[in-house]
Amino acid sequence: MAGGTLIVGASQAGLQLAASLGQFGDTKPIALVGEEIHPPYQRPPLSKEFLTRASDLESLALRAPSYYADAGIDLVSGERVTEVALSSSGSPGSGVARTASGRSFAFDRLALTVGAAPRRLDVPGAGLDGICCLRDRDDAADLRGRLESGARVVVVGGGFIGLEAAAVARALGKEVTVVEAADRLISRAVAPVVSEFYRQAHVRRGTRVLLSAAVSGFEGADGRVTAVRLADGTVLPADLVVVGVGVLPRTELAEQLGLACDRGIVVDAHARTSNPRVHAAGDCTVQPHPVTGLGTVRLESVQNAVAQATAAAASLLGRPVGATPVPWFWSYQGDLRLQIAGLSTGYDEYVVRGEPDSERFSVLYYRQRELLAIDAVNSPADYMAVRRALTDGATVPPSAAGDPGTPLKTLLAAGRAAVSSS
Ligand code: APR
Repeated sequence: MAGGTLIVGASQAGLQLAASLGQFGDTKPIALVGEEIHPPYQRPPLSKEFLTRASDLESLALRAPSYYADAGIDLVSGERVTEVALSSSGSPGSGVARTASGRSFAFDRLALTVGAAPRRLDVPGAGLDGICCLRDRDDAADLRGRLESGARVVVVGGGFIGLEAAAVARALGKEVTVVEAADRLISRAVAPVVSEFYRQAHVRRGTRVLLSAAVSGFEGADGRVTAVRLADGTVLPADLVVVGVGVLPRTELAEQLGLACDRGIVVDAHARTSNPRVHAAGDCTVQPHPVTGLGTVRLESVQNAVAQATAAAASLLGRPVGATPVPWFWSYQGDLRLQIAGLSTGYDEYVVRGEPDSERFSVLYYRQRELLAIDAVNSPADYMAVRRALTDGATVPPSAAGDPGTPLKTLLAAGRAAVSSS
């Protein structure tokens, strides 16, 4: 490619950025270069419908094969960008990137949508066959095949990936143990009341859940995993191990460019890095808190990838949009459907609506009586009402929110300034 926009990373954020440039009227060449051999596809179903065989690989594609040429996007799959440099003499923001196979891409504008890689466990035996992670299409296809045999599954990590995989394995009749290092499940994203609900719900379905449990190593025979060893001496026999212990943002290229990185590539609300000519979007970034503006957050979600990539495209074209979207997220663990709107970080009060034991309830979070977020379990109407409230700058008075007999949408009251819902 000579000139135009180079987007490194061809997943949800990279594709969105390319698509948005076109939608905003950009006519320059666009190269979307990705390491994976597959055209951009949806990741969320990999640990849900795809793993249960309710969907196949073809249905995961984010666009039809003909889309890229029609939209003027040069999709380059199976090429890993290993070097990138900005030019000191050409137009500001221009430069050249090189791939592992030796291809080079000259650009006028650069965006990094490089995502995150699964964190690996650094313990003896971690390289044994049968220890799997779940991040990309190939991981999921491999895990799906392995779930056909083997009766005992140990899941390391009780976050979203671990619990979604555990739910699938248990529904297939496996003997499943979840090993979580923290003292509660999904602690990164939900309040203790929701963590405890998930523990009980998975236990009710026959899954064993071990909290505050440290993996000290894996045992194997003939190169294959046979057991998981815990620091307290417990040995858990295993035919298959799924490791879901979080992700690490891929900052290598940003570091090469001297961009500020702090648990991710630091960007502003317009997806500009510390060099405002270079943009970044998606799981690889750390951004100002999108609701309060206080502090920074890393949002690992489809919603964020799409919103941030759209903002990046607008900013690259020199007309940044100011809207801050309401974050939303979902995790389907078998028949337990969790939907989250807003960000609950920093809450000082919460209201539980409905009875957790009924497996249909929601939790509304407040700070200084301002509505921050909702975690809704099998309660889509509550989720929608709060997402709308946050979008419109409305609130639900905490004193009234706890009555499940009154629909939340009838309780909306004026709150703080509205934000965008994209
Ligand atoms: N042993 C056991 N548990 C661990 C260990 C360990 N050594 N290290 C971390 N954990 C636990 C964390 O305490 C946390 O509960 O693993 C869990 C990881 O949860 P997440 O941060 O939600 O990460 P993960 O489940 O891997 O999901 C990664 O995929 O679906 C997306 O939104 C999800 O972006 C996220 C990504």
